[in-house]
Amino acid sequence: MNLDLTGKRALVCGASQGIGEACARQLAEQGAEVLLLARSAERLQAIVDSLPNSGGRRHALLALDANDREALLAGVGAELAHGDLHIWINNTGGPAPGPANTAAPEAFAAAFTQHLVNAQALLQLLLPGMRRAGYGRILNVLSTSVKQPIANLGVSNTIRAAVANWAKTLASELGPDGITVNNILPGLTRTPRLDSLVAHMASQNGRTVEQVEAAMQAQIPLRRFADPAEFANVAGFLASPAAAYVTGINVPVDGGNTGSL
Ligand SMILES: NC(=O)c1ccc[n+]([C@@H]2O[C@H](COP(=O)([O-])OP(=O)(O)OC[C@H]3O[C@@H](n4cnc5c(N)ncnc54)[C@H](OP(=O)(O)O)[C@@H]3O)[C@@H](O)[C@H]2O)c1
Repeated sequence: MNLDLTGKRALVCGASQGIGEACARQLAEQGAEVLLLARSAERLQAIVDSLPNSGGRRHALLALDANDREALLAGVGAELAHGDLHIWINNTGGPAPGPANTAAPEAFAAAFTQHLVNAQALLQLLLPGMRRAGYGRILNVLSTSVKQPIANLGVSNTIRAAVANWAKTLASELGPDGITVNNILPGLTRTPRLDSLVAHMASQNGRTVEQVEAAMQAQIPLRRFADPAEFANVAGFLASPAAAYVTGINVPVDGGNTGSL
């Protein structure tokens, strides 16, 4: 099975921690040159410094707010001068929790812009290089809510579904160019985001962090949270030549937690 990414360049968004960081590490392990994007320059630099760089690979970082579309396109555009980007991990922070019916209309608009409009702008910047190479791997980090809405994540449920349908449409359009488009759906994954959610739930309910985690894990068939590296293993496969015939799918990495096929 060919998992080798030597000669490939990858853009990993949301790469300063959690799932994005794990994906950056995995792609670098497989031989890719990686461009890490997030707001925290210091965290990104520490990750860049620790990535394997055999073969003279030049890993780099872009410290910017992806909600600033002008800065996003200028930053990624400047990096294209160093070579085309063949792999894109499309990842960013999730919308704030809360029910759908009480969410401000502006919260839907902001999440749509962050997760879809800005992604569309970035897509159009990356596509010419992927087409030139006849090799493109677009991987959207979404949520299992694409298959089964999650209570109290009203805005997120709505926006994730929109991105999933965007991706499915793109998969049909871009297949002839050798570009695959897939969605990876994390279940409960041990990242700083999950840690802060658990801490918040514990303080709200007068329970300990351990009690909250135990109750959550009891619902998961594999009885534990995922390690971000387990998510990144799936991303590494889908980014590789080995996954050339896989496109337009949703892959949950959720320990069996989603109650639908
Ligand atoms: N962990 C889970 O259990 C879980 C479950 C289901 C879905 N998800 C979803 O999967 C995605 C990744 O999850 P995670 O747990 O790894 O999230 P996380 O720990 O919150 O990490 C999010 C990453 O996105 C970056 N980011 C956020 N806003 C940004 C912005 N405006 N511009 C540039 N970068 C930005 C953050 O870096 P900076 O702060 O440095 O910018 C960070 O690197 C999220 O969308 C999350 O909602 C996670």
